[in-house]
Amino acid sequence: MRGAKGVLLGILLATGMGWLLFVWLPLTKLGGASPGGAPFGRAAVGGRIYAANGCASCHTQVVRPANLGSDIARGWGSRRTIPSDYREDHIVPLGVLRLGPDLADVGERRTDARWYYRLLYDPRTIFPGSLMPSYRYLYARVPLLGTPLPDALPLSGRNAPAPGFQVVPRPEARALVTYLLSLKRTPPAGTHNTQ
Ligand code: HEC
Repeated sequence: MRGAKGVLLGILLATGMGWLLFVWLPLTKLGGASPGGAPFGRAAVGGRIYAANGCASCHTQVVRPANLGSDIARGWGSRRTIPSDYREDHIVPLGVLRLGPDLADVGERRTDARWYYRLLYDPRTIFPGSLMPSYRYLYARVPLLGTPLPDALPLSGRNAPAPGFQVVPRPEARALVTYLLSLKRTPPAGTHNTQ
């Protein structure tokens, strides 16, 4: 009988500690924080293109707390990411490896769609010697009739299209860039507990 009591007490303690550590503690620390906006519409489609193209094999989307790394000091976000940032995301591309910068907040620091189009077409025109592959299949070469289309890429040198042609983003590239622009983790109301 005494043994059974001990076992019961042990079980209670073990589950109680688990509850305290994994439910109560995170809730008190992060429960009041508001999530970043979830991608919807074209941005959500772009999220699937991000996943399908393996961007997460080189890019994370997790900003670590200031005391656990230099992410915030590097300008990858003004605050750490919190679990509720991902609450409405269908795909959560946290990533496992960082060959490139963290992208959790990239829409906040890079705001020009045309910059992303140039980057994805040929990263080396922006970052010479970059490891990032080019994603040219997300673009189409179309005939140039009169003046170039507003979103035609300003390509020169080895990237210049044949005379009479221009290069424009396909819908996949547009969706991907809309997604990247939507990646913003603005500070929540109670910023004090999320640094
Ligand atoms: C092989 C690794 C690799 C892959 C795959 C990759 N990237 Fe990159 N990316 C990088 C590196 C490295 C940089 C930093 C620039 C540099 O120095 O080359 C970068 C930079 C960027 C930047 C600029 C970030 C900033 O803060 O300036 C964006 C945006 C980006 N990548 C998006 C993407 C997207 C979207 C994909 C998928 C379609 C992708 N990357 C796939 C390696 C990669």
